[in-house]
Amino acid sequence: MPTRQKAEPATIVIFGASGDLTKRKLIPALFQLVKDGLLAEKITIVGFARREKSHEQFRVEIEDALVEFARSKPEAGSRELKVFSSCCYYQTGNYDSSKSFHDLKKLMDKLGEERGIDSAKANRLFYLSTPPNVFSGIVAMLGQAGYISDPNDKNRWTRVIVEKPFGRDLETAYDLNKSLSSILDESQIYRIDHYLGKETVQNIMAFRFGNSIFEPLWNRRYVSHVHITVAESVCVEGRGGYYDNSGALRDMVQNHMLQLLALVAMEPPASFAPDAVRDEKVKVLSAIPPIEKSKVNECSVRGQYAAGTIDGKLIPDYLREAGVKSNSVTETFVALRLHVDNWRWAGVPFYLRTGKALTERLTEVNIEFRQPPLALFSHIKNNDGEEQDHMKPNMLSLRVQPNEGIRLSIGMKVPGPKMILEPKDMEFSYSDVFDVEPPGAYERLILDAILGDSTLFIRQDEVEVAWKLVNGILEGWASEELPHIHLYRAGTWGPYAADEFIINDIRKTVAL
Ligand SMILES: NC(=O)c1ccc[n+]([C@@H]2O[C@H](COP(=O)([O-])OP(=O)(O)OC[C@H]3O[C@@H](n4cnc5c(N)ncnc54)[C@H](OP(=O)(O)O)[C@@H]3O)[C@@H](O)[C@H]2O)c1
Repeated sequence: MPTRQKAEPATIVIFGASGDLTKRKLIPALFQLVKDGLLAEKITIVGFARREKSHEQFRVEIEDALVEFARSKPEAGSRELKVFSSCCYYQTGNYDSSKSFHDLKKLMDKLGEERGIDSAKANRLFYLSTPPNVFSGIVAMLGQAGYISDPNDKNRWTRVIVEKPFGRDLETAYDLNKSLSSILDESQIYRIDHYLGKETVQNIMAFRFGNSIFEPLWNRRYVSHVHITVAESVCVEGRGGYYDNSGALRDMVQNHMLQLLALVAMEPPASFAPDAVRDEKVKVLSAIPPIEKSKVNECSVRGQYAAGTIDGKLIPDYLREAGVKSNSVTETFVALRLHVDNWRWAGVPFYLRTGKALTERLTEVNIEFRQPPLALFSHIKNNDGEEQDHMKPNMLSLRVQPNEGIRLSIGMKVPGPKMILEPKDMEFSYSDVFDVEPPGAYERLILDAILGDSTLFIRQDEVEVAWKLVNGILEGWASEELPHIHLYRAGTWGPYAADEFIINDIRKTVAL
């Protein structure tokens, strides 16, 4: 991965520029990159969407969004805000209209001329921040209108960032990949999963491959099982219609959680070149045997939240959220057991758990190590009079969010005359160790796309292998006459059945 060098001049076109993501994440990320001096001076940002808007209106919206959402918040009306917004333009248009794309091209050529950029040398980054049903159409229009440069052209580049979801099942993912690759070379496609832009997610690789003490333990001999948790305390936040068509498995597991699993379980890449890293991720994901339709309930627990309270706020039943079907069986929670059938991980269960309306927001990877081979202290009773034959196993926790950091739980001798051991934590928190605010995920990823580094973006085969895995579960669930869906109260850690499933499973497969 390159260091954060300064990028070449480029025009950035955001499709779906009137949307939430543009306002909350993309524009603030671009502003921060400019502020940090990481983008070239000749940066031009063009927003494209159907809503009628003038350049001036767009700039006012951008300034308001930056005052509210930027990482280093600018003063309203400040010079830095004006300088940034003066580089932003807006084109009203339809995603399926040749005329709109022709108008966009005219605007871009004009802006290029004004800034003294020869169009034969113009670098262009297109960001698809629209709903996924228009991704293919936009790329087809870009192709027709002659925006896509030859991937081997040394004088200029064209890159397209594609937002998730990359399809809603294997078939639609194939279709999307087929239509993107009929116009673009894979090297020009940047499928974004913002989890990979998080510093703490990248730190999983730094932790594993930049240190020598843990890697020798990172295998079936020493690891008993792995838990990956992505808990959200929010509900569907006004996106009930979208979420009800998606559910936790598609929304979280297919992308973010399998990416986390891949980083935790992959083999060390031969280098940090984009394809070396992505080859290893594909290999490890391909080593997970798909769950058979008939065995789906042996490997998964689904839940849906019912009314409850989070932070003193009353949360309605999921079924009463706007846009959700009253008889919906969409899962807002899922717990899964997966295996990685390779030399390193055979027999080690990986438990994945994610849900909405849970007690707190938390993303964490817990690696639980095996017990020592001999219970040396078992004959010495602890202060509660219990035998110490079952010490708490060592646990390594990689906390992705919030309070980013690493915790290692180890057995220590309690001061006193007897050899009594208790688990204690060695802990370090990012904010204590590094005195700098980490860049936001979108900052990192947009900069990488401009620099042409695709290491942290998802390759076509990664998307497909992840869908293959998830498809079997979706098909298994869909085939049930009476869906096994467990209700859980909002503000809890999910259905009791999920705890039971994991605890019993660990007892059966690990503790023996
Ligand atoms: N928001 C997030 O935090 C987040 C996180 C991860 C991924 N994403 C993904 O990023 C993309 C953009 O997210 P968003 O929250 O900004 O979405 P959004 O607000 O629903 O859509 C963005 C813009 O696309 C246009 N649009 C909406 N529906 C359309 C339709 N049926 N056909 C054509 N255009 C339509 C709208 O602009 P006009 O009507 O003016 O054209 C809208 O402002 C989505 O694919 C989403 O799944 C979002």
